[in-house]
Amino acid sequence: MSDPFNFPQQDLLRHAHLISDAVDRLCRSGQLILGEGVRQFEVAFATWLGAGTQPRQVIGVANGTDALELALRAAGVGPGDRVLLPSHTAYATAAAILRLEACPVFVDLEPGRPVLSATHLDQLLSGSETSPGQGPFRAAIAVHLYGEACDLVPLLAVCERHGIALIEDCAQACGTLYRQRAVGTWGHFAAFSFYPTKNLAACGDGGALVVNRPDRIEAARRSRFYGWDDDRRAVQFGVNSRLDELQAWVLLGKLASLGEQIEQRRQVADWYAGQLGACLLRLPGDGADWRHSYHLYVVRLDPSERERVLVEGKRRGLPLALHYALGCHQTPYLIERFGPQPPLPETERRLAEILTLPLHPYLDLASVCSVAEPLRDLLAEAGAAPWAAPVSSQQVA
Ligand SMILES: Cc1ncc(COP(=O)(O)O)c(C=O)c1O
Repeated sequence: MSDPFNFPQQDLLRHAHLISDAVDRLCRSGQLILGEGVRQFEVAFATWLGAGTQPRQVIGVANGTDALELALRAAGVGPGDRVLLPSHTAYATAAAILRLEACPVFVDLEPGRPVLSATHLDQLLSGSETSPGQGPFRAAIAVHLYGEACDLVPLLAVCERHGIALIEDCAQACGTLYRQRAVGTWGHFAAFSFYPTKNLAACGDGGALVVNRPDRIEAARRSRFYGWDDDRRAVQFGVNSRLDELQAWVLLGKLASLGEQIEQRRQVADWYAGQLGACLLRLPGDGADWRHSYHLYVVRLDPSERERVLVEGKRRGLPLALHYALGCHQTPYLIERFGPQPPLPETERRLAEILTLPLHPYLDLASVCSVAEPLRDLLAEAGAAPWAAPVSSQQVA
């Protein structure tokens, strides 16, 4: 019996035939690197993302962090430049900035949401909020955390007003819609990860850089392969970050059922809402402008309760986690390298409230109940916490 909470294993078992088909293709074609699989996947993924305002190109790369790094390079970020991002994200977002010797500047969150605030972004760019670093601001990274979309229209307006690039970090948001259009089609550039736990999961590492600026497509494409032109002459800076043919064929095969898998994630979220809606928790959900893809299911509760529920829940064997225990601005390495970071009140409040419950497309109602029922019991044991009124999954978290 496989572990009901082990998504990569269940996903691998369900798609094992795609892997053997891919190996078969590799043996027949002998093409292992940048062949027909990558070419077909790039076209299919661009089509899957759908129409935006600009012609776009998908460039398959080795992982999501590389996709972010190459997006930053395509945006013209260099050593000493400042790049804005939320502190509440996977550390990979910040790590990509460090690779360029650029300086991360953390933007606080929108009240009540896990995404960066356009108002704070504007204040930092216009200097009315102070920020570390001296270099010019070059880009902002909007992270669609957990699969919840950032408010892209005001963010784009702020970036364009200040003449900087907007990069969408879609690592957790494959399948999320903003104003009925896929995230990844709004910013100047976007980065996707196909790490094995992601909504579109490879059977190893994989990622994609999306370029929505026609004038940057060719340079971005060359940047994943040493900066070579078609005659294999280096004409610019480049790295080695190629999506593997095996992964490309598997991802191409999985695209066919991606929509169905996202609906299944949404079904699991509805089951949680049914089980937990009357508890003293804040549940994630859709908003007026976004349709959630539920990469992660993160609830919120009163900070004093959160600690007790986390510790006691884990002691009783509940599969609970934190995404994330620390904001990037609190990580030892960034403090050592850039000095103490300015406080981010909304981010710090949220970090103390969050709790991640397992969610993936293979969970059934019984598995959801096996988490929700003991969680309800745990919450009831403390008596009523006055902090949160019951909310439905369709309300803004
Ligand atoms: C928000 C975010 N950005 C970037 C990444 C980096 O992706 P990868 O692990 O494929 O390099 C991740 C991966 O966890 C992520 O969650």
